[in-house]
Amino acid sequence: MSRKQHPPVDELTVERIRSGLEDRFWKEILCYRSVGSTNTVGLSLPLGDDNEDVGRIVVADSQEKGRGRFDRTWISPPGVNIHASIVLRPGIPPAAGPFLTILAALAAASAMKKETGIAVSIKWPNDLIVSRKKLGGILTEARTSRGVITRAVIGIGINLNLRQEDFPPEISAKATSSLICTGSTFPRAGILSAIMNEFEPRYEIFRKSGGLPLVREMKPLLDTIGREITICEGGEQICGVAEDIDDNGRLIVSLPSGLTRSVGSGEIVETDTGSEC
Ligand code: BTN
Repeated sequence: MSRKQHPPVDELTVERIRSGLEDRFWKEILCYRSVGSTNTVGLSLPLGDDNEDVGRIVVADSQEKGRGRFDRTWISPPGVNIHASIVLRPGIPPAAGPFLTILAALAAASAMKKETGIAVSIKWPNDLIVSRKKLGGILTEARTSRGVITRAVIGIGINLNLRQEDFPPEISAKATSSLICTGSTFPRAGILSAIMNEFEPRYEIFRKSGGLPLVREMKPLLDTIGREITICEGGEQICGVAEDIDDNGRLIVSLPSGLTRSVGSGEIVETDTGSEC
């Protein structure tokens, strides 16, 4: 007797994603059943010979080797979550690269608010947070040549229809999903189109006006501001209170000495959670 395989409940197809798009920026949408990591695919995607900066996105139902920041594993089981990497050739200096992470975080937060009603905050520089738990994250990787970013791969991972018991025990207490937050499931293609629709106009503004509009938009969404934190930057631990972000998207930390310090990258650990870097 032959057993029929049921199609995935929430199928991801190029057609479904494209049908929700509002503009023509997105030239190439690649949709895979399973990949190692959509970022890895994005890093080797042929971009053609011209220097045109068009929208490309690599999407996968699941990832075998999903990557988070600091070489952590990003859990990416089939059928439930968003795993996508936007591939651009922005031609901006490497110092402006962190704005792409901010841009993607804003696009994802805005799309989630519109599509699911969840108010997502952003834990600088790349975490999508709901009720102090991690809903998703951004991993931006870049290739540079002659002082400009010739390829940026902006990976977006969002826990969508994952149940609490599906998280590995070691991250279960710190992680959440939109299903856990709302009790409802959401179609991944619709969320992806919404993220792409939110990304494109912000990218245009960024290209015309730089990162300041993004910084302004991010400030009211920032999690952790006003709290005691430890931040690890390049092996150094900086302890203080997270005050704000500056016009360059750097985190301003006020130190016990009364001085302030701005930090360009790193990972915030809230001191009152008792965690260490
Ligand atoms: C983090 O918070 O550490 C960043 C997580 C980024 C995960 C996404 S899922 C799509 C893309 N492919 C990957 O391997 N990682 C990013």
